[in-house]
Amino acid sequence: MTPDHKHRILILGASGFIGNALYKELCSYFSTFGTYHVTNPAFELNKHFFQYRVEEDDIFEILEAVKPSIIISCLRGDFHAQVIAHRHMAEYVVAHDCKILFLSSANVFDAYSKFPSYEDDKTLSGSIYGHFKIKIENMLMRLPKKKVVIVRLPMIFGTQSPRVKVLKQHIADKTAIEVFPNLIMNVTTDFKLTQQIHYIINRNKHGIFHLGSSDLVHHDDFIMEMVTLITSENVHFKQVYTTNEDRYLAVIPKLNPLPKHLQICSTELLEELNNYMNYNP
Ligand SMILES: NC(=O)c1ccc[n+]([C@@H]2O[C@H](COP(=O)([O-])OP(=O)(O)OC[C@H]3O[C@@H](n4cnc5c(N)ncnc54)[C@H](OP(=O)(O)O)[C@@H]3O)[C@@H](O)[C@H]2O)c1
Repeated sequence: MTPDHKHRILILGASGFIGNALYKELCSYFSTFGTYHVTNPAFELNKHFFQYRVEEDDIFEILEAVKPSIIISCLRGDFHAQVIAHRHMAEYVVAHDCKILFLSSANVFDAYSKFPSYEDDKTLSGSIYGHFKIKIENMLMRLPKKKVVIVRLPMIFGTQSPRVKVLKQHIADKTAIEVFPNLIMNVTTDFKLTQQIHYIINRNKHGIFHLGSSDLVHHDDFIMEMVTLITSENVHFKQVYTTNEDRYLAVIPKLNPLPKHLQICSTELLEELNNYMNYNP
């Protein structure tokens, strides 16, 4: 299939777990470019990839080289440097025919623990990570509405996700896996997320999207079920109680739901993982 020249997409953090899944999803349909941080010969040889260190490099140079019509921000790195980089991106977005899609997190609500959160709920965080995401969200929300997409994500579990890799490592090392019995959350996969973002781009959507599973799970039950898909051996779990009461960390759609086929429930996620494990034991 020839790429659709309607958009030039720049993915910041395209070597990472989500950024790379997005690159693979979008590159056959759009002119897609990406950044990586750690030197990697495979990316160096790819003319669509740029090395970018958020603490040292000027994002303007990459923006000028790519001239994106959509920027997707999937970065990690120093928070202060990321805030400055997003300020520069916001300036670019205002001055050009360009929109920005920012990967935010359920942690923007982590100071509210009594209920799940909806798109128009006020953000409030008790964590440094949550504060940092709120700061960038607020900066982007000052841009023209149609130029901004904020997707708030719960924990993402995919076959290649760092979270599943950590579980496997604990199982291999026979070390305890921490679970949080009081934590009620929703979840998603890289597989569903990339389809959802592709849809948001195709339909030229803007605004805030809560891209978590339609159901809620207890962290301990979910992780234990996931572990039974990975191994039949006995695994040691360490129960961690951060409060005496149940605590929610869940982003539920109300204002901006996606079509049914783009929604996911936690059992589908576990089935997807199970299928993968059966083919890649
Ligand atoms: N994974 C989740 O469960 C989850 C949940 C909610 C929100 N999010 C958000 O989704 C985004 C992507 O997360 P992810 O899990 O895909 O992260 P990841 O796998 O760690 O990927 C991070 C990306 O940022 C790049 N990077 C790291 N440090 C950098 C630096 N100093 N300068 C420039 N680039 C740097 C990495 O490059 P290298 O590969 O070269 O190191 C990689 O491309 C993040 O903004 C995260 O907050 C993730």
